Amino acid sequence: MKEFSNISRAEILEMLSLNGKELQDFYERAGQVKLKSVGNKVYYRGLLEYSNRCAKNCFYCGVRKDNQNIDRYTLEDNEVVEAAKLAHKKQFGSLVLQSGERSDSWFVNKVSHLLREIHKATNNDLHITLSMGEQTEKTFDLWRECGAHRYLVRIETSDKNLYQKIHPNDQLHSYDRRIEALEILRKTGYQVGTGVMIGLPFQSREDVADDLLFIKSLDVDMVGMGPYIEHETTPLFKYQDQLRPKSERFELSMKMVALLRMMMPTINIAATTAMQTLHPEGREFALRVGANVIMPNLTPLKYREGYLLYENKPNVHEETDVSLEKLKQSIEKAGCQLALGEWGDSKHFRDRQY
Ligand code: 5AD
Ligand code: SF4
Repeated sequence: MKEFSNISRAEILEMLSLNGKELQDFYERAGQVKLKSVGNKVYYRGLLEYSNRCAKNCFYCGVRKDNQNIDRYTLEDNEVVEAAKLAHKKQFGSLVLQSGERSDSWFVNKVSHLLREIHKATNNDLHITLSMGEQTEKTFDLWRECGAHRYLVRIETSDKNLYQKIHPNDQLHSYDRRIEALEILRKTGYQVGTGVMIGLPFQSREDVADDLLFIKSLDVDMVGMGPYIEHETTPLFKYQDQLRPKSERFELSMKMVALLRMMMPTINIAATTAMQTLHPEGREFALRVGANVIMPNLTPLKYREGYLLYENKPNVHEETDVSLEKLKQSIEKAGCQLALGEWGDSKHFRDRQY
């Protein structure tokens, strides 16, 4: 296991090119690293897509500000509290509040209020993760004081040139500011997460190898990454002919999960919805090769059409209980054990407290 903590770029590239029997052996080895380091438990994080209002215009995203084809929504306070109670009742260790990025004071205060209300309604039992984009240090601190424990900011791609190609060229979409947000988070006491998209137009194998090294250098506690999936109403769609086939994007994503598990054995890694979009058993596959977190969607059904970041997002019309039953079966099929009633902090985070 040790040798992977100092894996070189050349070795990563070599593994990203494996196929056939060698690839299967590599997946198996990654699965074993996972079992030895964090065991076979899978933790649920209930995902609540709080609002699709967003101040940003990322070129790849279906809820970008300039997309006028969608109805914008923000959940009512009671809907958030009800979803939190459901997560609590179902013994999920934690809840993820995700939304488009905004930093106006109404929003900042609203999130603070919701955090307090959730804790009141769930006896302080739920861990709360926020995924609400870049904020000031003051806001990060405020939300932490109100009871948020974890924060996710995906770097999307660690390559500055590529970052600039997939975002508008302005201050709001600055690569440097994104890095700064991650650095601030890292010193605030949050459990910090990041992630990337895999198979973006213009993205090379070298770029994704560098993404893994970047994630490792940030020393994050959790990672959510997944394949890029085109969306017709976004500016990046015009490059769809240049994309790797979906099967390749999926395979590359699995190799990334396996490699990351070997490079950072004790972090939490999510089997993401985008993986399931490209392969019906995508999440099970990810669990076998290294992932240990799944995020069931708890967003009320009537809002789900509004949060289509990419095409063919699954479970848009499915009742929560039905999805959960299917998910439980998938987890067992992947040889894992669903851990209920546990926060499931990453071992990496616990270790760095001492
Ligand atoms: N394909 C895959 N992932 C996407 N995201 C946004 N748009 C897409 C897309 N087209 C991801 C980004 C973002 C997260 C909320 O969703 O990584 O951080
Ligand atoms: Fe907004 Fe996030 Fe979509 Fe960018 S990826 S447009 S910040 S919701």
